[in-house]
Amino acid sequence: MTLSADDQKKAAAAAAMDHVRDGMKLGLGTGSTAKHFVDFIGAKVAGGWKLLCVPTSEATRTQAASLNIPLTTLDETPELDLTVDGADELDADLTLIKGGGGALLREKMVAASSARMIVIADGSKKVARLGAFPLPIEVVTFGAKATMRKIEKAAAGAGAKGQLSFRMKNGAQFVTDNGNYIIDGAFGMIPDAKKLALALEATPGVVDHGLFIGLADLAILGAPDGVVIVKA
Ligand code: A5P
Repeated sequence: MTLSADDQKKAAAAAAMDHVRDGMKLGLGTGSTAKHFVDFIGAKVAGGWKLLCVPTSEATRTQAASLNIPLTTLDETPELDLTVDGADELDADLTLIKGGGGALLREKMVAASSARMIVIADGSKKVARLGAFPLPIEVVTFGAKATMRKIEKAAAGAGAKGQLSFRMKNGAQFVTDNGNYIIDGAFGMIPDAKKLALALEATPGVVDHGLFIGLADLAILGAPDGVVIVKA
């Protein structure tokens, strides 16, 4: 029997539950894989576990609230034990591309506030080299087209060249939970993720980007017949 992509996501989420203990403070990721994890957390809460969670998006907040998962904020609870989240791509070093769902800023803030981050994903997300998935870059709406031009230059200086486009949703520009736009950088491949991250962080108007470097400790990947563990 081989698992479908969604069954792989669910298997990875289930395996991540081995790392969750009663009483933990957790970061809850965003996306179709994290959604399975939040369902499992909801079942533990229903069974009497005392967990306190920070959601990484309004979508996850809505799901978690519907499952009666106790929620907090980073302001109230700035140090978390563990964040479990999905990824759009990950390499052997556990450098990630995230933000396919547009939640990259809160996801990074929550992961950076956690003692550990575990990535859960279907096996297709593991790549030899990052960049086939367009890199999401969150920018403020003010001067967004001018920021896009600056990003193009900054990225090219870091060896990443490709089409930049504003993310659209239902015919309108996509707006993040933080009221910002997303620019997707179709670089094809990213030769030096650290260099690109630094270049983007030095670009005025950029709020954050979807490169997660040195944040993930472990990845649990669905495989056709179970899960595979990748350590940083
Ligand atoms: C949300 O902004 C993203 O970072 C998601 O974590 C990522 O897109 C993975 O989503 P899926 O689990 O739906 O593939």
